[in-house]
Amino acid sequence: MATQKIHHKNGKINIVLKDNKASKIEDNTSEDFIGKDPFAHIDQELATFVGLDDLKRKIKEIYATIVINEKRAQMGLSNTKQVLHMLFKGNPGTGKTTVARKLAKIYFDMNLLSKGHFIEAERADLVGEYIGQTAQKTRALIQKAMGGILFIDEAYSLARGGERDFGKEAIDTLVKHMEDSGDDFVLILAGYPYEMERFLTLNPGLKSRFPFILDFPDYDIDQLMDITRQMASEREYQLSKDAEWKLRNFLYKQKNNPNSNFSNARFIRNVIEHAIRMQAVRLLYKDNILPDELILLTGNDLRLEDIEAIW
Ligand SMILES: Nc1ncnc2c1ncn2[C@@H]1O[C@H](COP(=O)(O)OP(=O)(O)OP(=O)(O)O)[C@@H](O)[C@H]1O
Ligand SMILES: [Mg+2]
Repeated sequence: MATQKIHHKNGKINIVLKDNKASKIEDNTSEDFIGKDPFAHIDQELATFVGLDDLKRKIKEIYATIVINEKRAQMGLSNTKQVLHMLFKGNPGTGKTTVARKLAKIYFDMNLLSKGHFIEAERADLVGEYIGQTAQKTRALIQKAMGGILFIDEAYSLARGGERDFGKEAIDTLVKHMEDSGDDFVLILAGYPYEMERFLTLNPGLKSRFPFILDFPDYDIDQLMDITRQMASEREYQLSKDAEWKLRNFLYKQKNNPNSNFSNARFIRNVIEHAIRMQAVRLLYKDNILPDELILLTGNDLRLEDIEAIW
């Protein structure tokens, strides 16, 4: 390919394409981000999430695409707008809601959303009781979500009543607005994996409108233990060795029990919060409480059987 030069309005030569494969971009006007870790701020935002590597990779891809698209636009090259609507599939407590909330902030920081707020909705927020009400309710919700993220949990419940159900109208209205509402709105549909798959099969037009389909896998035991340490230390607590051992054993049993409806990281959060209350009760019986005792959660504070009962 012949060397091609693209001139900016100010007359500066900004880009020299040498052949189809290699291109060199010389842009004195933009900040120099190449060479440093361009993803450091994303790593920092997502550092509190244990695992979720696929998600972290995708967010970086989105960010890279946006920055490069901006550069391309500056050079007068065509650039395709990135559609950001997403589907989240994962079992209970795998982080779907927490991640979606975080994304609102990340997208705001990336200038992808103008407000960065987060609206969580479920069937009742979208579906009305009489004809015409559903489209109206759904439109109002989208309006409220403009500039931010609209997160619809258990999205498949919109399709539960079949053809004559008003849920269908909500889906149609959402789909219409996904295309009409420009870029300043991100829709995330979330739910359990099997039900989500079924939902997509029943609504074949939907899948292609969501360029990002993210799986939230169940956490393994090491990840759950990391989450435990993190949740404890965020609250300025620490688990004793025997508490850790007790929890690890319990998790192992749960993981091997096909009938358990184990709720991943949510279970861990419940364990920590319950243990904190048990520790408080235990300490109140003492005359002298040492600083270390205020921090330590012991094996006895972990009433895992009680937690299981309140899943
Ligand atoms: N990867 C993770 N690292 C640390 N904490 C996590 C992680 N995933 C989830 N959590 C924590 O677990 C709890 C439950 O997460 P969340 O409510 O986001 O799950 P969910 O997938 O939306 O569950 P459900 O399907 O039941 O609505 C939250 O307190 C969240 O902060
Ligand atoms: Mg949730």
